[in-house]
Amino acid sequence: MQDTKLNISTNREHYDHNYAQVNAEALVAQIRDLKRFFDDATKTSTSWHGFYHGGFAERLGRKRVLELGCGDGLNALIMASFGAEVVAVDISHESGRILREASCELQIEGLCVIVGDFATIPFEPHSFDFVVGKAFLHHLTHDLEDNYVAKAACLLKPCGEARFFEPAVNSRLLDALRWMIPVPGRPSILMKRRFRKWKELDPHPERDNSSDHFRRLGTKYFDSVDIVPVGSLERLCRLMPQGSFNRGFRRWAHRAELWLPMYLRMKAARSQLIVFRRPRHSAESSASVH
Ligand SMILES: C[S@@+](CC[C@H](N)C(=O)[O-])C[C@H]1O[C@@H](n2cnc3c(N)ncnc32)[C@H](O)[C@@H]1O
Repeated sequence: MQDTKLNISTNREHYDHNYAQVNAEALVAQIRDLKRFFDDATKTSTSWHGFYHGGFAERLGRKRVLELGCGDGLNALIMASFGAEVVAVDISHESGRILREASCELQIEGLCVIVGDFATIPFEPHSFDFVVGKAFLHHLTHDLEDNYVAKAACLLKPCGEARFFEPAVNSRLLDALRWMIPVPGRPSILMKRRFRKWKELDPHPERDNSSDHFRRLGTKYFDSVDIVPVGSLERLCRLMPQGSFNRGFRRWAHRAELWLPMYLRMKAARSQLIVFRRPRHSAESSASVH
């Protein structure tokens, strides 16, 4: 198992490199046309559809939100545009650059970005309504994840909520098939040499991404855990060529999967929304949150 320091430095290097190409202007354009972008993204793209499930956007007004692993900052800008006060954290220096440039250009107030390891950044206990992450937890080793979720619980107000959108691996068969199908940037596992080369540069640690794992994790620090499976049908879009049919299929699949039995949706999910509520605040853990 990868150690914590290596996990952090691998992610930082990888994302400093990836985000160096990101132009804040593109984000600014998306935020200036937010309604169109948001309507389209939440209907078509699994991560936006899942993250904003259940009317989350409408709950953001005047709320204090901590986003972990904010990446290129688009979600932080969106939440701030919906009226939240957002503190965005990422290990990549590039996230800091992009978000500072974009929020300055958009003159968005109430958005602050902090670059660093969440475990070492001091925050006031019980000071956030939401702690969120989109495609974030699965980048952490189990130890680091445990540490971060424990700290998230301490930072939440008693009625606060932690919400993470993550991949789901609930079927060994589907997972084995997934690795066989190449996707842009990742060769099939059957192309052994190319796959090994890709794997050497991949920032994801080997870890458990099952819904059972996230349920066990949440139960350690919260009294309520909800998992919403996403993408049980949508995942079939990988077998189709890109284009308007593919987009139409994904939109249909997000609606149609609600008709499937929950057991099947869980088993076949490609992703999951994880919602932890009712944080357990022990006096000892809340005393020093750093
Ligand atoms: C897959 S990206 C997701 C980015 C963004 N949330 C999104 O949905 O596009 C994972 C992000 O987590 C960040 N990350 C990884 N490990 C981290 C850590 N220990 N602390 C803070 N951020 C981390 C990476 O730098 C990267 O920006």
